[in-house]
Amino acid sequence: MVQKIVILDFGSQTTQLIGRRVRELNIYSEIIPYHKYPYGREAEEGIIGVILSGSPLSVYDKDAFRVDLDRLLGRVPVLGICYGAQLMAYSLGGAVEPAPSREYGRALLEWTDGTSPLLEGIGQGAQVWMSHGDTITRLPEGFKVIASTADVRFAAFASESQPVWGVQFHPEVFHSTCGMQLLRNFAVGICGARCDWSAESFIETTVAELRSTLGDDKVVLGLSGGVDSTVAAVLLARAIGDRLTCIFVDHGMLRLNEFHDVLAEYKKLGLNVLGVDASDKFFADLAGVTDPEKKRKIIGADFVEVFDREAHKLEGVRWLAQGTIYPDCIESLSITGTVIKSHHNVGGLPERMNLRLCEPLRLLFKDEVRAVGRALGIPDSLIGRHPFPGPGLAVRILGEVTREKVAVLQQADHIFISGLRREGLYDKVWQAGVILLPVQSVGVMGDERTYERAVALRAVTSTDAMTADWAHLPYEFLASVSNEIINKVKGVNRVCYDISSKPPATIEWE
Ligand code: XMP
Repeated sequence: MVQKIVILDFGSQTTQLIGRRVRELNIYSEIIPYHKYPYGREAEEGIIGVILSGSPLSVYDKDAFRVDLDRLLGRVPVLGICYGAQLMAYSLGGAVEPAPSREYGRALLEWTDGTSPLLEGIGQGAQVWMSHGDTITRLPEGFKVIASTADVRFAAFASESQPVWGVQFHPEVFHSTCGMQLLRNFAVGICGARCDWSAESFIETTVAELRSTLGDDKVVLGLSGGVDSTVAAVLLARAIGDRLTCIFVDHGMLRLNEFHDVLAEYKKLGLNVLGVDASDKFFADLAGVTDPEKKRKIIGADFVEVFDREAHKLEGVRWLAQGTIYPDCIESLSITGTVIKSHHNVGGLPERMNLRLCEPLRLLFKDEVRAVGRALGIPDSLIGRHPFPGPGLAVRILGEVTREKVAVLQQADHIFISGLRREGLYDKVWQAGVILLPVQSVGVMGDERTYERAVALRAVTSTDAMTADWAHLPYEFLASVSNEIINKVKGVNRVCYDISSKPPATIEWE
């Protein structure tokens, strides 16, 4: 049976990070809103430990998020982090008060109990990261302090009779240099995790589950060329073979040769894939449309229509598979305690198609999807691809989208992306592309005056696309790309480089 650590979410910004860190220890973790702990023998099966997250609230607030600790403690080992630690201290009879000054950033840990299993292997003076406005001023009876910092007396504490622990700092953040060791001590040393959750074990259990859930049913899946749908398809194909049919729709706004190249790669992977060139419909419906959101809506609706039509030509399909991943599914809490669920799906397909939904990657973070993809033998040319927006080049052509503009942009984009690959820069940036601007400017080529289009190069570094910085690409490289575009792409006589970060800009221009 798969062992898991449950993280009860009290609304902290770093809750997801706790889940990630536990996964990095090859232990499966699940993030659950604080009030949804699955009490009951069957539902609790496999749970070997619980972590209580931080929160933007104060434990003494009238509307603070609370759990019934009497029901929780004693069932499994529990580690409270920041608010989680304060909640335990406060609820069990200790005291929590506003700190004289808010405590943010670096602090050095001095342990007072060198024998504590939570602190094993952590040296005196280890750096931890604090972020709290309240502080514990008295521990409940039966608890003892195991580490302090210069400003925080109860930086880490333990129950004397139960496997219950609290830390005021955030072991999950990068700057807590002993954080991984502490989480390992909890998960492995205290909870007894086997650390056997890996890409290979995920594939093995998921393939078995898919076979038993899907039986002899047929499944349809929309491929986009992106990592998530590709990995979902190969995983499903391993489970049910040709009973999976993939549909790859070409809306005409993909990169140069992408439809054919990616289709060929899919076929090499042994996928049963149907390529559908629907570009005429997309271009016709986009004619005259300049508003970015309208463009997106039209492309989304057209995609659903085309996919639905093609899927209906297949016989006996019972399931729609999607490459939805964990961050799309986590139910996160707003400060009011409302559960926010931003469940991603492809432009309303599930609602329209009346098929059962199969999402084999819904438990994985993005880098885990990549690891699974590699373990499935998917080549790096597909796994390491930059993200690319669903509406494709349509949102990189400011204003109306036409075939002629797409052709110009495809060439410029091809020069930029090939250059990044050639110079070993492709994997150093999160995402890159070219934007076709709706302006013309004067230039001179030979002895001729020109009045042609301008393009902007965009390359960003990021870890999750939520924030991004412009990539500091070498000037020589930018100069050579600019030269090549102006010399080779007819209709372009000026190249700019976008040096805006996100926020306040966004990665795409539309
Ligand atoms: P922004 O421009 O919001 O982009 O900073 C963040 C990430 O999302 C991608 N993106 C999209 N992806 N459909 C998609 O599937 C869209 O309409 C869309 N708009 C932006 C963008 O490429 C970047 O990776």
